[in-house]
Amino acid sequence: MAQRNSDTATLFDLDGGHATPPQVTSSTIRDTSTKLGPWALNTVHAVDCLTALRKMPADCIDVAVTSPPYWGQRGNGGIGLEEDPRDYVRNLTEVLTEVMRCLKPSGTFWLNIGDSYNTPINWRFEDYAYSSLGANGTGLPKTNSAYTKNRGRRRAFVRRDSKWLQYGNLLAIPYRIVIALCDQGFLFRGEVIWEKARPLPEGICRRPHRKHEGISIFAKSEQHSFQVKPPVGSVWKLLQTPNKTPHCSTFPLDLPLCCIEAAASEKPGVVLDPFMGSGTTGKAALQLGHNFIGFELNSEMCRLANAYITGQMTF
Ligand SMILES: C[S@@+](CC[C@H](N)C(=O)[O-])C[C@H]1O[C@@H](n2cnc3c(N)ncnc32)[C@H](O)[C@@H]1O
Repeated sequence: MAQRNSDTATLFDLDGGHATPPQVTSSTIRDTSTKLGPWALNTVHAVDCLTALRKMPADCIDVAVTSPPYWGQRGNGGIGLEEDPRDYVRNLTEVLTEVMRCLKPSGTFWLNIGDSYNTPINWRFEDYAYSSLGANGTGLPKTNSAYTKNRGRRRAFVRRDSKWLQYGNLLAIPYRIVIALCDQGFLFRGEVIWEKARPLPEGICRRPHRKHEGISIFAKSEQHSFQVKPPVGSVWKLLQTPNKTPHCSTFPLDLPLCCIEAAASEKPGVVLDPFMGSGTTGKAALQLGHNFIGFELNSEMCRLANAYITGQMTF
């Protein structure tokens, strides 16, 4: 039932996904001629993920793993640049709802997303003199990525008529996403805490320095696949191997590796990452004997991701 490149029209129902989803067999591993909707497997496609997901059939993905851009952190386009965090939650929920539509009832969706304080992020190099980072509070070396990474110019978004939009509030964005997906009938199956070996320095502040990020797990059915022996723990210390691609907000390869393994779906399945970035999820999927499909808005990053995944380019 899998669609081939040579077909001009999709075999699958693009809007309702009522046609039989493609069965990926061992003979199709690393196959780029098999398609889900119009999208070839084992390829990162340079396209807006919402547009792309809407063209995919329902119930065709075994595991989804992703880390979308966080609200107002950095980036040159796409999701995460919304001035109003309510728009961000709405836009991201729309994408993630499509991810859930594409997920098989046996599948799981692993969402790594960081929270944001309602405070400005407007680092300019002239601000270095005010930096309170480092052991003696006078700043890290000027070349430290805490200063050189491309950051968003976010303002605090304060609204008197919306009490949670106060200055200084931790916006609880991951939980707002969890609630939005549960309100649509999807199952929130748990949360893994990724305990970071090398957290970003945060300077002097009247709150805990963040050393962790959450990974929320969603499913469509309580009968989804999952590793039960040994049981999956809820706090993970991941191996933080360096990602040498030019992408500035990657997750470690160990993150998708651990999620895909814990998902325990039959091999070879299809692993989706709608925000593929440098290609980490694709690399993990192939390493574990699965196929992948990915979307990335930035076309240059998409080109690099495909080269990185196939090993045509070493960074
Ligand atoms: C946090 S990064 C993902 C990094 C990835 N996990 C890795 O390890 O390389 C999020 C990515 O989503 C992309 N993005 C933002 N909006 C998008 C959209 N609407 N469709 C597809 N990609 C998008 C950004 O360009 C960015 O590369």
